[in-house]
Amino acid sequence: MNTEKLPAVSIHKLKQAEEIPYDLLLLADPYQAAIDKYLSASEIYIASLSTKVIGLYVLYPAGAGTIEIKNIAVEESLQGKGIGKQMLGHAAEICRSKGIDTLIIGTANSSIGQLFLYQQQGFEIFDIKRDFFLDNYIEPIFEDGIQCKHMIMLKKKL
Ligand code: COA
Repeated sequence: MNTEKLPAVSIHKLKQAEEIPYDLLLLADPYQAAIDKYLSASEIYIASLSTKVIGLYVLYPAGAGTIEIKNIAVEESLQGKGIGKQMLGHAAEICRSKGIDTLIIGTANSSIGQLFLYQQQGFEIFDIKRDFFLDNYIEPIFEDGIQCKHMIMLKKKL
């Protein structure tokens, strides 16, 4: 992976006329039916470089004063260049501007890079949904030889 950092990307809320980039959503969550369940109540933010869509994140209301990032993804060839970090910072700003005080995000026990990134960006583990991936996904999933079993929930105070 070429980890040379990119210039700042521009980030905007997806407009009604714009196509939903399912290819990116599916990088973070392999089941479109699961994605469609949260999309209707969510806001999608698009990261682009010139006019090319290269990343996105999804904000979902999760109770009083709380928003969950339900999906975050960067095009595969551009991962590791700081775009995910920029989108997490942008999400925090958007939520602050809405008067939200807690941002949450969940990731798998096997997603070591994501756990690294989220904690580095100020998120702290507050819950574990045990066996979440065993109960909700048909096929076993492995990352770097680690079985994906539990959902680790992290939160950041804004
Ligand atoms: N071990 C240790 N650190 C890791 C790592 C790993 N396996 N993978 C990434 N990191 C670190 C990088 O070193 C970097 O930190 P640094 O800048 O201090 O070096 C940081 O995490 C990555 O930051 P960034 O480049 O901003 O991330 P990104 O642009 O690749 O975006 C994701 C992060 C997760 C959105 C992106 O990789 C992605 O789309 N992955 C596939 C979909 C996905 O898994 N989504 C999340 C579901 S919970």
